Amino acid sequence: MIEIPPKFAGRPPVHPDAKNPLAVWKGAAGLAEDVRRYGKWMRDEAFKRIGHLYPPVEVTKAMAKARPDLEQYVGDKLTVIAWLWARTVKSPNPAYSRVDVPLVSTFILSSREGKEAYVQPVIHKDGYTFTVRVGKPPAAARGGTKTARGSNFRCLMSSAPIGADYVMKSGMEHGLGIRLMAVVVEGNRERPYLSPIENVPNLTAMPDIAFLQQPMTNDRRWFSPPLYGFPNWADIFTRRQLVALTTFSDLVGEAREKVKQDAMKAGMLDDNCGLEDGGTGATAYAEAASLYLAFCVDKMTDTNTTVCSWQLDPPRLRATFGRQAIPMVWDPAEANIFADAAGDFGRCVLSLVEVLECLGLPGIGRANQQDATALVTGTLRVFSTDPPYYDNIGYADLSDFFYVWLRRALKPIYPALFATVAVPKAEELVATPHRHGGKEKAESFFLAGMAQAMTRLAEQTHPAFPVTIYYAFKQSESESEKGTASTGWETFLNAVIRAGLGINGTWPIRSELATRNVGRDTNALASSIILVCRPRAVDAGTISRRQFVRQLNETLPLALDAMTRASEGLHSPVAPVDLSQAIIGPGMAIFSRYDAVLEADGTPMTVKTALQLINRFLAEDDFDADTQFCLHWFEQHGWEVGKFGEATVLARSKGTSVEGVKATGVIEAGGGNVRLFKWKEYPADWHPRTDVRLPVWEALHQLIRAYNTHGDSGAARVLAGTAGKAEAARQLAYRLYTLCERANRAEDARAYNEVVTGWTGIESAAAKVPAPKQRTLFDHEGAE
Ligand SMILES: C[S@@+](CC[C@H](N)C(=O)[O-])C[C@H]1O[C@@H](n2cnc3c(N)ncnc32)[C@H](O)[C@@H]1O
Repeated sequence: MIEIPPKFAGRPPVHPDAKNPLAVWKGAAGLAEDVRRYGKWMRDEAFKRIGHLYPPVEVTKAMAKARPDLEQYVGDKLTVIAWLWARTVKSPNPAYSRVDVPLVSTFILSSREGKEAYVQPVIHKDGYTFTVRVGKPPAAARGGTKTARGSNFRCLMSSAPIGADYVMKSGMEHGLGIRLMAVVVEGNRERPYLSPIENVPNLTAMPDIAFLQQPMTNDRRWFSPPLYGFPNWADIFTRRQLVALTTFSDLVGEAREKVKQDAMKAGMLDDNCGLEDGGTGATAYAEAASLYLAFCVDKMTDTNTTVCSWQLDPPRLRATFGRQAIPMVWDPAEANIFADAAGDFGRCVLSLVEVLECLGLPGIGRANQQDATALVTGTLRVFSTDPPYYDNIGYADLSDFFYVWLRRALKPIYPALFATVAVPKAEELVATPHRHGGKEKAESFFLAGMAQAMTRLAEQTHPAFPVTIYYAFKQSESESEKGTASTGWETFLNAVIRAGLGINGTWPIRSELATRNVGRDTNALASSIILVCRPRAVDAGTISRRQFVRQLNETLPLALDAMTRASEGLHSPVAPVDLSQAIIGPGMAIFSRYDAVLEADGTPMTVKTALQLINRFLAEDDFDADTQFCLHWFEQHGWEVGKFGEATVLARSKGTSVEGVKATGVIEAGGGNVRLFKWKEYPADWHPRTDVRLPVWEALHQLIRAYNTHGDSGAARVLAGTAGKAEAARQLAYRLYTLCERANRAEDARAYNEVVTGWTGIESAAAKVPAPKQRTLFDHEGAE
């Protein structure tokens, strides 16, 4: 994107049918048009060669007999959108040991209202068949044959438990099976589901796939298939997917030849010089076009593996990389690559061309591949870098997925770049325990390497500009006695400071797609955090811990205030989820200004301690886990319903669970939804003494309920009964008031405001509540 399109900027396309009514080809528009044209040629050519592997389904009278919704299609040949499979394993029950029973995470096919569909397994004496039904599914369909998280199932024939160990052992020893469960077809503005139709052709001639017999890394965090007997990249494709993808991969080379011939016919000179040798003629142009076509094949690979699954609502294919990992998918969805839906090469070409077309191309760019720890630029530069985030993503291990396919298509163009059979991994600056022999060694490797890389930047940065470093890593909620800190941040900041850089600020910059999967994951931020650094002054001196804390006290409250307030034309408020990261900036600005902050015993303060001291300024850390959950949920959803899955992720990140929060009585959870109760819904016959799990959130909202229904005296009884949580409840009310005010939730804000302003009165009334009588006070409340 930086280097290649500018070489061909402003050039018209070479395809004989290319058209542009204005005859002006700005930027990379000509190249984009060629990628579109030759991409279409590849798809048409592939259809001629392998189109028969994707037969349509003819709807018969027999099929429509039990399915009135199919009557309109009788006699029609419907295009298949996807084949939905189920992994199978031999039943552990000796009576059914010959039956391959399905491992299915759900039998629901569509949960869209009015369009519900599900698979109903029909069990016979020695086997079963799958039948697709429409209409409201029975409750049991939701869980498929799964019994618990991970790979725990039950035998469809006998209900015998199928544990994870059994599945792994079976996979390793005999391989797991696969069986067709349903077929999704293209209807009249709908996608009906059909019972399995064995129209999948039997493939006998297979392409050479030696290039895919490369092992995935056997690291549980990112790769599950090896645990179940799928160790190599070749193992996560169906035979048909392998045929399809190798066909397209072959066509990249054929397209390159065609582009070159057409380019010469169109008058482009040929210097016989490829891209790697700096060519700009027909050979290089053909290589450029084929490079982008190879990217399209890679994108297509993402939607054509047995790690793809079927999304229920909206119903469509979910690609391999929903997040940066290769999970085990029990019910894979196989796309029809000629259905003009997800998985179709044409779609991949379009999405790439859209980008090429609108590239600005302000000038010639250069891209070099270098190890950051050995970076040599030759002159002072402006650095803006996006380094790996500690142990978040296994880039090199995961890149192999794409690399093996790219290498097959592009090695003739870039022999040096694709010299190795897999992606080089040793220099990768990621704290990967499996590569470095344990967690601690991985941390040391990351720290030493990152410090070296940062030193290179500090040495070669232009003094007029700050070094900006993206670090989208969340400070985890790993609490210790002394407070919150995070190894990922701590190690990284250590590296930056060791390299002689001072941190001047941490700016959250909105850069992430809100809907991406990882955005809903625990360690995802709403923004990227940019560390703004400059080389530290020589002889910066030292300060004591006490002086450091004093400076923090002077600076951080104001900084927090500024961050959480919008500033017209300057910045919008920092999103709550980013605040923990954003506060590091002004705190670390003080810490990293000096050569050291000295502890009372003269030893230099660690970055970890500094982070803990800084994090104390975030009041949220003082609340219990259930309250933190409620607070964040309220920020996102107010009193509205939200998705259960989202609540689970949030609860986990706060160190609690949805079930746990539900047990406190502050939320309603069920049917895939979660909702916070309003104070009006809280039970009046509640008693703090019998409440075994009482988060500050509940105490405050009980207080508001009592205050609004019984005035000072009612609230005083609650306050007296929850005395240990009084200060936290007041802080929470304050925080909620500010939050509601900023979010224009006037009515909610009023309730918190009233309780905060009436606090002194409630407190004095609570002081008069006689202690011994507390035992009976609440007994009457419900009746009042
Ligand atoms: C956070 S990602 C950058 C992502 C990039 N901004 C993007 O949008 O695609 C960090 C990158 O650092 C690369 N990396 C890891 N170790 C490296 C090293 N020693 N030298 C240079 N790059 C390295 C990883 O391969 C990864 O691509």
